[in-house]
Amino acid sequence: METPAQHFDCLIVGAGHGGAQTAIQLRQLGFAGSIGVIGEEPELPYERPPLSKEFLAGEKDFPRLLIRTEAFWTERQVMFLTGRRVTAIDPIARTVTTAAGECFGYGELVWATGGSPRRLRCAGHDLAGVHAVRTRADVEQLKAELATTRQVVVVGGGYIGLEAAAVLTKLGKSVTVVETLDRVLARVAGAELSTFLENAHRARGVTILTSATVTAITGTAGRATGVVLGDGRTLPADMVIVGIGIIPETAPLAAAGAAGSNGVDVDDHCRTSLPHIWAIGDCAAHENIFAGGARIRLESVQNANDMATTVARALTGNPRPYAQVPWFWSNQFDLRLQTVGLSIGHDATVLRGDPASGAFSIVYLRSGRVIALDCVNAVKDYVQGKALVEQGVAVAANDLANTEIPLKHWHAQGATA
Ligand code: APR
Repeated sequence: METPAQHFDCLIVGAGHGGAQTAIQLRQLGFAGSIGVIGEEPELPYERPPLSKEFLAGEKDFPRLLIRTEAFWTERQVMFLTGRRVTAIDPIARTVTTAAGECFGYGELVWATGGSPRRLRCAGHDLAGVHAVRTRADVEQLKAELATTRQVVVVGGGYIGLEAAAVLTKLGKSVTVVETLDRVLARVAGAELSTFLENAHRARGVTILTSATVTAITGTAGRATGVVLGDGRTLPADMVIVGIGIIPETAPLAAAGAAGSNGVDVDDHCRTSLPHIWAIGDCAAHENIFAGGARIRLESVQNANDMATTVARALTGNPRPYAQVPWFWSNQFDLRLQTVGLSIGHDATVLRGDPASGAFSIVYLRSGRVIALDCVNAVKDYVQGKALVEQGVAVAANDLANTEIPLKHWHAQGATA
């Protein structure tokens, strides 16, 4: 058995939102043991959402993205082991091994690795000029090429693709989004919102192609020059941005015997099936009450932060099950999109407000009860709608459609309303 170079009472693997928040919460809740954080990237934890927004646009520089300063971590005695990738876990010896062969011991292990961007598999996917948007390095590289870029093809009409398309269009680039499904944002949004966003992007100069597939990326001298579509067309491109989702980073956990098929399975305290190993954030498949109890993964900062708190509470003797209402946000051009709840399984939708005005909400109902809202430039609906989702309030569709009645009107009526 290998002797660990160092032992931590709590070892966190993954230095993103979830990993950082676990360390913050552990100290906040009085955890006195040693804390180590292993991260693959060279940086201290930083905010990822701005990567496809303000950071790409050049409106925010990197230091402003840091979740906490170096001094904060030093004061709280949180030790960062950056530039290291964990490749194996020994749950009996309670050690992890890195790609470079270093070994670290743990009392409790918190797995907070998130996911890595899914790659295209077609010819030309690895040419220069083809970019993912997941890390600072991805976006620095992309920005370095912008001065010589005129035409951009964005593959994937999810959050990443649409946000990148908005920023690059504003920077004067000619942008085409290629989406496989018949509407953008299909993974997270209802059809009405997809239609609104497609129209909004088109009105602001983006070309959006739905039900379109990429069969190859062409290149000259190792650099991308075009994207070949399933219908035989080739779209000229100096740059290709790929935002086709993430794959949870859980291979070492699976190899160590942790249960899970889509990420790693956790219980409502974020425990995996292996002793002393916890998992949080994008990679943690949990039974979610807002998805009718289905086992799902949530890809959001909110989920990473809230699960971090769940683990920190459990590790400091004050456990509280994870039961937070999910929320998400996105900024595209002048549109602020905010979602609360999960619309999966809705059987009715109600439109509040007029999409033509640029500010409206879509309320999702299941069996007459509010389960989610998509709000576009409608902060009040978002804030007030949250309680309706939390309480599973029943509201008549006609009433919901009446924008003269604020959603708080139905607060505190509870699930029996
Ligand atoms: N070609 C074109 N489109 C594709 C392809 C493909 N080969 N494969 C998938 N898509 C589309 C999907 O249909 C979906 O609309 O790409 C989109 C991916 O959207 P998301 O799953 O939301 O992933 P992405 O936008 O890459 O975001 C990745 O970053 O912002 C976070 O919450 C976000 O966690 C998510 C992550």
